[in-house]
Amino acid sequence: MSSRRYARNLVCPHCGSSLRRDTARAVCANGHTFDVSRRGYVNLLPAHLTRSRSPGDTRAALQHRSRFLSGGYFDRLSDLLVMKSRGLLEQTRRNHPISLLDAGCGEGHLTTRWLSGLGGGTEVDAVGSDISKWAIDLAARRSSNVDWIVASNRELPIADDSVDLITCVFGFPHLDCFRRVLALGGWLLLVESASDHLVELRSLIYDDVATKQSGIEAKRGFTLIDRDALRYETTVQGEHVWDLLAMTPHFYRASESAKARVEGTRELALTVSIRLSIYEATR
Ligand SMILES: C[S@@+](CC[C@H](N)C(=O)[O-])C[C@H]1O[C@@H](n2cnc3c(N)ncnc32)[C@H](O)[C@@H]1O
Ligand SMILES: [Zn+2]
Repeated sequence: MSSRRYARNLVCPHCGSSLRRDTARAVCANGHTFDVSRRGYVNLLPAHLTRSRSPGDTRAALQHRSRFLSGGYFDRLSDLLVMKSRGLLEQTRRNHPISLLDAGCGEGHLTTRWLSGLGGGTEVDAVGSDISKWAIDLAARRSSNVDWIVASNRELPIADDSVDLITCVFGFPHLDCFRRVLALGGWLLLVESASDHLVELRSLIYDDVATKQSGIEAKRGFTLIDRDALRYETTVQGEHVWDLLAMTPHFYRASESAKARVEGTRELALTVSIRLSIYEATR
């Protein structure tokens, strides 16, 4: 028997009843069964919720993302998430365990940095979800202390009012669903690109670099309680320049000559520029 405790708020994507889970299977009260993969994650994305057979980021894009993130270029971003999350969780007098969700978690680098930054001492149920099975397959190798699930932010297989804190970092938010799963008084930490994010990469690829700022404003059921900008420059080295292109959708839009330019670049001064919005779930 495993001593592993699983998140208690996962529900069946077909009927919404709660899932009982062990190391091999997750089963709901109505007998819907989901295999637990060899790596320990569960695919809770029913085929009817997606048009593609393999939705979300590709395996190759995620491998490049993993390599790039291992260079530490976004560490200041995860440090900011840790600091903000700790501040919020310290205010809370909720019953333990605290329920956390990283929605659109990708290959889990930021999820695991965020969780380990929160430190021990607090009992947490942590879920990392992504619509890409490749993302979750890589993420599940990072930590067995997280319930990694393949799921869409549009219809998360998570019980209503059950999550204390959601992070969504460049992760395709669906605010109605986030509000449904958040407990009243819970928080959403939303990280979005600012207009000059990765501008040097875009300048290598395009003649005209768009600088229009766009961003999401959550309204119904959310109150904005904090907003921060984080902007810094870093130097991307060697193969990581190519990894950076190949982990973004720019890879599909770049011309062959632009790709060659990126491939030939061994050092790139890069602006990391994001907006972090913290929303509280309200009535
Ligand atoms: C830019 S990556 C960010 C990943 C991670 N949060 C990070 O910052 O490293 C976006 C991720 O969102 C996932 N994604 C796209 N649409 C999604 C959806 N509807 N629900 C959940 N994840 C989605 C992709 O598969 C991809 O892994
Ligand atoms: Zn069911």
